[in-house]
Amino acid sequence: AARVRIHHLAAAKDRSEHFAMLTAYDQYTAQIFDEAGIDVLLVGDSAANNVFGHETSIPVTVDELIPLCRAVARSAHRALVVADLPFGSYEASPAQGVETGVRFLKEGLAHAVKMEGGAYYAETVRAMVQAGIPVIAHIGFTPQSEHALGGYRVQGRGDDVARLIEDAKALEAAGAFCVLMEMVPAAAAASVDAAVRVPTIGIGAGSSTTGQVLVWQDMAGLRGGEGTRISKFVKQYADLRGQLLDAARRYRDDVRSGAFPGREHSF
Ligand code: KIV
Ligand code: NA
Repeated sequence: AARVRIHHLAAAKDRSEHFAMLTAYDQYTAQIFDEAGIDVLLVGDSAANNVFGHETSIPVTVDELIPLCRAVARSAHRALVVADLPFGSYEASPAQGVETGVRFLKEGLAHAVKMEGGAYYAETVRAMVQAGIPVIAHIGFTPQSEHALGGYRVQGRGDDVARLIEDAKALEAAGAFCVLMEMVPAAAAASVDAAVRVPTIGIGAGSSTTGQVLVWQDMAGLRGGEGTRISKFVKQYADLRGQLLDAARRYRDDVRSGAFPGREHSF
């Protein structure tokens, strides 16, 4: 199938269609999601939590994400591959944003990048877009600013919706091809979507956005276990954690009992 391009996502909004996006951090998930027709694969900085074992997305680095991005880009033949700019890799200046974006396209083989932040980052987005780097702007709850925002909280409630709309418009004017909203009330997300021409993507942002995104380990039920909190906005489509746990236990039992390997597994 032909590669998904940014104009296809714009066309989806024009036709009132929806597109699906998932995170991916490695070869097999990228292959499987690509085959399933997931239109956009995000190599999220959520790799910090979901691959590297950190508690937040803050510690992950560009050097850590680039090899994951390259693995996803090599393995997906149809999906648009988007790389997340990690905390600290674009905030200092438009030049830093361009430099990091270039690295993700050049070394990570991504087709676009995503970055967190509102209107303040319009100049950075403009510089990146002029350098040939397509940008998705991530607003609403932005996990890299967790400490500034005071924890995981819904954004854009009440009067804050006006700021959300202002941010989205400024980022669109700067050339962002998509606006992603995380954890905002459905009505606020609908207002933002109506205020911009570019397609929007939501996670915990209701059903009015053109695209939806989820972290794949949440969607497939891999994340879990003792003390895990699964967000209200997640829908679990599988119980991979349960299946893997069961497979690993049966393998352990077979090895201990001598049932594995059998003659058919031996030379
Ligand atoms: O890093 C990530 O996984 C994300 C999505 C949840 C939007 O930014
Ligand atoms: Na992210």
